[in-house]
Amino acid sequence: MHFRRAGAARTIARMQTYLYPDRISLAALDLVERPDPAPGPHDVVLEMRAASINYRDVAIARGDYGAFAAPLVPLSDGAGVVVARGSAVTRFSVGDLVCPVYVPDWIAGSLQEGFARRRLGGPLDGVLAERVRVHEADAVKAPAHLDAVEAATLPIAAVTVWQTLFADDGVRPGDVVAVQGTGGVSLFTVQLARAAGCRVLVVTRSAERHAELERLGADVLDANGDWRARLLALTHGRGVDRFVDVLGDVARLVPLVRVGGTIAIVGFVETTHTTLDLPATIRRGITLRAQSAGSRASFEALVRTLEVTKLRPKIDRVLPFERARDAWPALERGRPFGKVVIAIGGSR
Ligand SMILES: NC(=O)c1ccc[n+]([C@@H]2O[C@H](COP(=O)([O-])OP(=O)(O)OC[C@H]3O[C@@H](n4cnc5c(N)ncnc54)[C@H](OP(=O)(O)O)[C@@H]3O)[C@@H](O)[C@H]2O)c1
Repeated sequence: MHFRRAGAARTIARMQTYLYPDRISLAALDLVERPDPAPGPHDVVLEMRAASINYRDVAIARGDYGAFAAPLVPLSDGAGVVVARGSAVTRFSVGDLVCPVYVPDWIAGSLQEGFARRRLGGPLDGVLAERVRVHEADAVKAPAHLDAVEAATLPIAAVTVWQTLFADDGVRPGDVVAVQGTGGVSLFTVQLARAAGCRVLVVTRSAERHAELERLGADVLDANGDWRARLLALTHGRGVDRFVDVLGDVARLVPLVRVGGTIAIVGFVETTHTTLDLPATIRRGITLRAQSAGSRASFEALVRTLEVTKLRPKIDRVLPFERARDAWPALERGRPFGKVVIAIGGSR
């Protein structure tokens, strides 16, 4: 869109962006106009096609995820088409579908001091905007077989799962992986672990989702029943090789993981604090592995994995840009099966 600024002789291109203008709260979230971003020598400008919401965004809006300063553009995950690029850009061409990475400083290897300080969607501006400028080092080309809505689901949840399952001491074919829930992280865990030849056990409260989970290749445990006994029975009393804990249930997972196995501490949907039975954890030689997102290299490996396996993210619903605010309650209270995505510029 173009408009003539009062007193200005030339036409300034403008775009729309969502913004927490002066405080971080869903009630304050506003849709405003800003000048189009222009690329510096190493930047690309993305015309955003979709953005997706994570548990983190809900927690930020509630004030439960640290204190970030306004003004702030929300949401970490998105996909957009390169519409302009700086003179020195080599990684991307105009027309490429690209995802900004969530932790821009984490290129490869393990997490280092300082990496976590800069994250999209807080404290850095996020992607819920018509146009976004990003340094070429801080973006990844989307999987060739995915559309923008699908690609927008990848940067946090799928990259975290890839890092949790495969980075460093990763799972092997034949391993048993368990996860609770049917949210974004949980479904990527099912899909990627199955693709790697693992057996996957999913603990869910949602009886109506059993058949769909089984279609994805999971064995389903009913969270309302004695699922712990069932897990032990299914693993012949041995326990699972890796439990991906999205709830914060780590203390009660120790007896459910095999001796020498791993609990990946990924989320805290139910609780942010826990008390651990240290003697039992030590006796069983359990590795507790806290996971905080993933590197660009893991994102690129995820892209290759998806292209080879032709896996597609599960999408629960797609909202239009004008109704982006509905994404917060949709994730918090709508019990989505898969990702909640906002289409930008009529991409679906
Ligand atoms: N560490 C990282 O890098 C990283 C990255 C991404 C996400 N996370 C964290 O991982 C967690 C999950 O994220 P997500 O995006 O997958 O969340 P989500 O989409 O909201 O899914 C959470 C799932 O947990 C299950 N659940 C069980 N008890 C629940 C309860 N009391 N309230 C709500 N849900 C409950 C639900 O599945 P059922 O209805 O099937 O039981 C729900 O689908 C969050 O804590 C998030 O912050 C961490």
